[in-house]
Amino acid sequence: MIVQRLAIIGLGLIGGSLARALRAAGAVAHISGYDPDSSRRQDAERLCVIDKVYDTPVAAVREADLVVLAVPVMHTADALLDCLPGCKTDVVITDVGSTKQSVLADVARACGSVPPWFVAAHPIAGTEKSGVAHAQTDLFRRHRVILTPHDGQDPAARALVNRMWQAVGARVVEMDAARHDAIFAATSHLPHILAFSFVDMLAQLDGEGDIFSNAGGGFRDFSRIASSSPQMWHDIVRANTGAVRSLLDRQINELQNIRNMIDTERWDDLKALFERARTARERYLTQIE
Ligand SMILES: NC(=O)c1ccc[n+]([C@@H]2O[C@H](COP(=O)([O-])OP(=O)(O)OC[C@H]3O[C@@H](n4cnc5c(N)ncnc54)[C@H](O)[C@@H]3O)[C@@H](O)[C@H]2O)c1
Repeated sequence: MIVQRLAIIGLGLIGGSLARALRAAGAVAHISGYDPDSSRRQDAERLCVIDKVYDTPVAAVREADLVVLAVPVMHTADALLDCLPGCKTDVVITDVGSTKQSVLADVARACGSVPPWFVAAHPIAGTEKSGVAHAQTDLFRRHRVILTPHDGQDPAARALVNRMWQAVGARVVEMDAARHDAIFAATSHLPHILAFSFVDMLAQLDGEGDIFSNAGGGFRDFSRIASSSPQMWHDIVRANTGAVRSLLDRQINELQNIRNMIDTERWDDLKALFERARTARERYLTQIE
């Protein structure tokens, strides 16, 4: 048993999947939960993802040894402040947010400094679905979880969060928060912006309704992540503007470069670019196997 009493604040895909995974692993004795959305609370109860769902965050965390904040990143510090009055003095609190510098800065602002018992974490696993109803027991198995430790963090708090993620089959690594945000701006935040922007542009073009109705597998693959939660992605982009801005500039330059190749009929250059990209993707695929 890793944790006797766990509280999950935010009964969405990630909070629900963590609850299911910890229970399946026999790593937790009791899970309480809270979400401001009553339909999410009802789903969590109906699907038996959470042992006891409460109407307030303070009630949900009252006896918890470990509290997981699984809310959109810009709500993390508020969720923390909402539950703190109910927490035990020796509680450990962690998050799952997709940006880490903003979460640490918001928590520092809310608490005066980042408390020793706070452990910033990001599971590198998810889907385009939202809500506890889509929670999956195996979501985190063989995926990474990144911890971004801060100065003064209690090593015992970090070790507890590390053990929790290992119990659900994840591989825990540690990284500086700024490096984390730069990496995920490139591999996650930019692709989501591109997918949302691409689908939005096609929707505006689709006056006759024959663009989407004739779309094939390539469109389905490329557009899948545009089905992700707009609230969650609004928060992520707003919380990581520095890294996102410079990558967007590079991408705009790259598209302009392709446009120039087409205008000037530099077809060998275009093919060379496609070849470089395909080689890079194949290398990536061998790395993750
Ligand atoms: N979905 C993914 O692929 C993925 C992957 C890794 C990390 N994350 C991160 O996990 C977090 C949750 O994402 P999700 O996919 O589970 O989203 P989700 O939309 O499925 O669930 C988020 C839940 O948080 C609740 N919530 C909002 N504000 C709250 C508050 N102040 N207090 C309590 N609950 C609140 C919402 O009502 C919602 O039920 C986000 O920070 C996201 O960046 C998501």
